[in-house]
Parts: sequence; structure tokens; C-alpha cells
Amino acid sequence: MNDFAQHLIAWQKTHGRHDLPWQNTRDPYAIWVSEIMLQQTQVSAVIPYYQRFMARFPDIAALAGASEDHVLEHWSGLGYYSRARNLHAAAKQIMSQHEGRFPQQVELIEALPGIGRSTAAAIASFAFGQRHAILDGNVKRVLARCFGIDGWPGQPSVEKRMWTLAETLLPEEGMEAYTQGIMDLGATLCSRSKPACPACPYVDACVAHAEGRVAELPTPKPRKTIPEKKTVMLLLLSGNEILLEKRPPTGIWGGLWSLPEIDAEADALKAVRERFGLEAPALLAPMTPFLHTFSHFRLEIIPQPVHVSKSLHAEENGRLWLDREEALGAALPAPVRKLLEKLA
Ligand code: ADE
Repeated sequence: MNDFAQHLIAWQKTHGRHDLPWQNTRDPYAIWVSEIMLQQTQVSAVIPYYQRFMARFPDIAALAGASEDHVLEHWSGLGYYSRARNLHAAAKQIMSQHEGRFPQQVELIEALPGIGRSTAAAIASFAFGQRHAILDGNVKRVLARCFGIDGWPGQPSVEKRMWTLAETLLPEEGMEAYTQGIMDLGATLCSRSKPACPACPYVDACVAHAEGRVAELPTPKPRKTIPEKKTVMLLLLSGNEILLEKRPPTGIWGGLWSLPEIDAEADALKAVRERFGLEAPALLAPMTPFLHTFSHFRLEIIPQPVHVSKSLHAEENGRLWLDREEALGAALPAPVRKLLEKLA
């Protein structure tokens, strides 16, 4: 047997979990229900639901014969209710297509509603001792770290590599302990944020551990590309003074003192004359544009200094002429502060 499987089986026997309510049975129905409940939910949350569900729907026939409302009632609070609807539909399908007996062939298991490749493999392994690899989030984390696999495991090429690896690691026998062991390792020692490496059976072999990359692996999901917007910020300069505008109370930079903005396509001089009533504006040498990143978009800021001769029209509410030192003392958005510092 390969070292990986051997270590895991030995570890599972002494350190793994052995007394969960869905263990110590070969009943495929009981194992199936548990695996579905455990798909997006922690063991501790699942246990009471599992016990109530099994007491009320003890076998496939009982589940298939119940109303969907009744099944959902027993799922209420567990979330992801399509799991319950699929479970119910699959029970009916087993009654009509498999004479009420849970199928043993992994392809037939996977064909049931709500059962993907990994869940089908877990059921086939726990109920029938079959040799099929599982690959859930916990297993992906263990493999990414142990074997130093880069790339987000949700990416098809990375996932494909992991499936192949998971299959080559399977033991010839002891599939139940192996499958439970890799789940247990991922859920307990090899946790996402606080892995207990010193206690791990793979501490000497783990690539991530050897390279100090445990915190980096598995590679997180790439952030969605966020939209980019553009704005021109006017630095209206009169002598040593600059014009600040108060932002509306809500939205980006709500209530802060900022620079007046115009559309990137707008005519700056015209805007200055019309919006601010400032006479004889003159464009000064442009400053370098830069990006400011918000959580949901990026803003390209194009600073445009404009020389103006101050006019009383600008002394309204929400507009303020300050000298540059005073301006730096105001509540400014970070990129505006950056600009004013550059100007000083
Ligand atoms: N998560 C998914 N399947 C599990 C199982 N059989 N035991 C513990 N956690 C699990």
C-alpha cells in the first residue's frame, strides 16, 4: 500500500472519529442521508437534525412516502433546502427505478438527484467498501498542502489534477477507514486557518509544511474582476488656496471633504466657469492618474489642476477654500489626501 494511505488509515484508527451517529452502519440509506446533510453543514449542527430525520424517516420507503412539506419541516433550519427536495425526489426514484433498494454501482448512485461524484464515492465507500476517491473541500485542502498543488481547486484543470491524484492514493483495502480518515484529517488537524501540523501524520512529508506555505495553500478563489470607473478630480487653485467640496452624507466618502469631480469626457474649463462661477480659469500641467480600489469597484482618478481667480460664488455651503496646510487637516478621502500631499 502507498505510504499516504497507510499513514492515514493508521491515524484514523487511533485519532479519527468513530462514534458519529452515521458511523458503524452499512445501511446505504443512513449513510446517504448523513452525507447530504454534511455537504454544506458542520458535523455538530447536523447531528440533531440527522437523529430527528432518521427517527421520522427510517428508510427509503418512509421518505418516499412522505409529503415534500413534511420532509422540508425536518430540514427546517439546516439551510440549502434543495438538498431536502433532491433527497425526497431521489427516494421516490429509488422506489420506482431500483425496486426500493439503494443502488450499489457508483454510476447509478451518482445519477440520483443531489448526488455528485464525491458524495457518490463516499456512499459507495462507506456502505459497500468500494474503491472510489472522494474530493470535497476538506480533501482538496489536504491534497493541496501535502502535495504542494498551486491554483484554486475550483478551477477545472486543478480539480482534474486533484481527482487523478486522489485516485492514485487509494489503498487496496480499508476504504472505509481511509475515506473517513481523509475527511477527519481535513476537518480536524488540517483545518483552514489553524492547522495542527505537529500532530499531523504527514508533517515530515507535507510540501506546504516544508516550504512554509501552509497558510497559502490551497490557493483561494480568485477575486471577481471588479468594474472600473473614471473620474476627473479638479484641483481648483487660487494663490495658496484650494477648493474642497463636502460629499453628500451617503455613498462613497459620505460627509468627507473632497475635490470637485467632473466626468472624464467633460470640458474642464467650461465646467469650472458654469458650476463654480469662477472667472478666467486656466488648465495647469496635468498630474499622473492613479487607481483607488474600493471593495466593489476601482476608481481611476485623473487629477486636473486648474488655476482660477477666486470668486465669491464659491463661498457657498458645502464649498470651502482652504490653504493647503488647513486642507490637510480636514476629513479627506485617502486619495485626496495623497493628491494634496503631492501638491504641497
Ligand atoms: N463530512 C462529510 N462526510 C462526513 C462524514 N462521513 N463524517 C464526518 N464528516 C463528514
